[in-house]
Amino acid sequence: MKSKFLAICFLLSAGLFGQNTLSLETGSSNIKIEKEVYGHFSEHLGTCIYEGIYVGEDSEIPNINGYRTDVVEALKALKVPVLRWPGGCFADTYHWKDGIGPKDERPSIVNIFWGGVTEDNSFGTHEFLNFCELIGTEPYLSINVGSGTVQEARDWVEYVTSNNRSPMTELRKKNGRDKPWKVKFWGIGNENWGCGGDMTPEYYANIFRHYSSYIRGEGFQKIICGPAGGDKYWTEEIMSTLKGKNHLAQGLSLHYYTLPTNDWSGSKGSSTDFGEEMWFKTLRNTMKVEEYIQQHLAIMEKYDPEKKIKLIVDEWGTWYDKLPGTKEGFLQQQNTLRDALVAGINLNIFNNYAEFISMANIAQIVNVLQSVILTNGPQMVKTPTYHVFKLYNVHQDATLIPLRLESEKYEYEGESIPAVTASASEKDGMINITITNANPNKDIPFKCDIGRPFKSASGKIVSAEKMTDFNEFGEEEKVHTKDFGIGKSQSEELNIIIPAHSIILLQLELE
Ligand code: AHR
Repeated sequence: MKSKFLAICFLLSAGLFGQNTLSLETGSSNIKIEKEVYGHFSEHLGTCIYEGIYVGEDSEIPNINGYRTDVVEALKALKVPVLRWPGGCFADTYHWKDGIGPKDERPSIVNIFWGGVTEDNSFGTHEFLNFCELIGTEPYLSINVGSGTVQEARDWVEYVTSNNRSPMTELRKKNGRDKPWKVKFWGIGNENWGCGGDMTPEYYANIFRHYSSYIRGEGFQKIICGPAGGDKYWTEEIMSTLKGKNHLAQGLSLHYYTLPTNDWSGSKGSSTDFGEEMWFKTLRNTMKVEEYIQQHLAIMEKYDPEKKIKLIVDEWGTWYDKLPGTKEGFLQQQNTLRDALVAGINLNIFNNYAEFISMANIAQIVNVLQSVILTNGPQMVKTPTYHVFKLYNVHQDATLIPLRLESEKYEYEGESIPAVTASASEKDGMINITITNANPNKDIPFKCDIGRPFKSASGKIVSAEKMTDFNEFGEEEKVHTKDFGIGKSQSEELNIIIPAHSIILLQLELE
């Protein structure tokens, strides 16, 4: 009896929370988490655009001017802040003039990167920009550098954004749009170290300088093609070639995909059929993004000490083997609780680097890679990743609260990663803290020092019974958001237990 009592005392005084503490440094920053960190990416790839977003006005699937009603509603509810288009690799083959004017006069082309399918150009500039207006999102256009021309790019800018009289604005009006659209974000090329022309960094950086001189407009943010993963050489060469002309770029893009196996040429692993080994490797590999962010920021700072060029993670997410029976090059995969963890971990990391990261776009918005939405004919599901984005939306345009986090390790076969990640922000009299627990086998007790008194606390959780659970068409959702009971809290402190394989949001109403 006595020893039991002592054990409880020990747990309470020292051991219960172990090394698991989170301390908020409230009031210590005025750094905004740009809403664009919660951005998305759409490409003419597989069934992302056609079937996923656009079915045409004559479709039997309910639609608004050809856009699927179910998808429009789901994306509106998600508050998508920015959407990148038309690629990806596709962007460097895309000639925008093919996608304007009467649909029956638009040429069909072959989508050389993605399955060699016919692209009939029925979804073009008007359809994309009107879609952005419909779901209330900022468009981000990716300019064709690989096979396009500076003149073609300049014409696109003129056609889309100009209010003046010119051949391009007359053409836009003839095609039914009087007023220009507002487009702030312009990517100049995509993966120009690979599918975007296989260029050397110095060659591409000079091309960027050339293009950027003509991509002009008020408030434009121009994005230079940055590295893949940990390619420091690319970043170094780009930044040094840019030196003295830093004003030409407002963002440098980073692409990092999470592959459980890290093997681009072999099997990447199944999106649904996996055990703890693949779970662990996926989460371990996704956490590497933080190391890459740090490496690239250090190089960028050398050439841009004022930190005017921000890092833009404009492609990120999981990449698994294609689903059995789906077309080659369509990159169709399922989305399980593991993907929800990947989303939560990445978004926490991006939030914590909000001073340096101004945008991040998950790949891709519908039906491709780590989508928030999957469709199947007339059916649609919101994936686990959708629910995490919805949970984390509280951070959009909020003030970052820096934090100190001490977390126990999640160990698997001799390797380990931090079990917990977290980020916090303040907006409208609320403190919002998002936390992930990567350990699929263990609930983790956690002490949170808020550093300020609060009136009330509530919580929400995304989790499921099994790590392989996903949301199946026509069935009740297995992975979704529920209320999370917090229990008793002291004035500036919260003691919680973070369930195994879960993502939670704590919301504190300030006094
Ligand atoms: O998202 C799929 C592809 O991944 C994109 O087209 C390309 O930019 C990247 O390699």
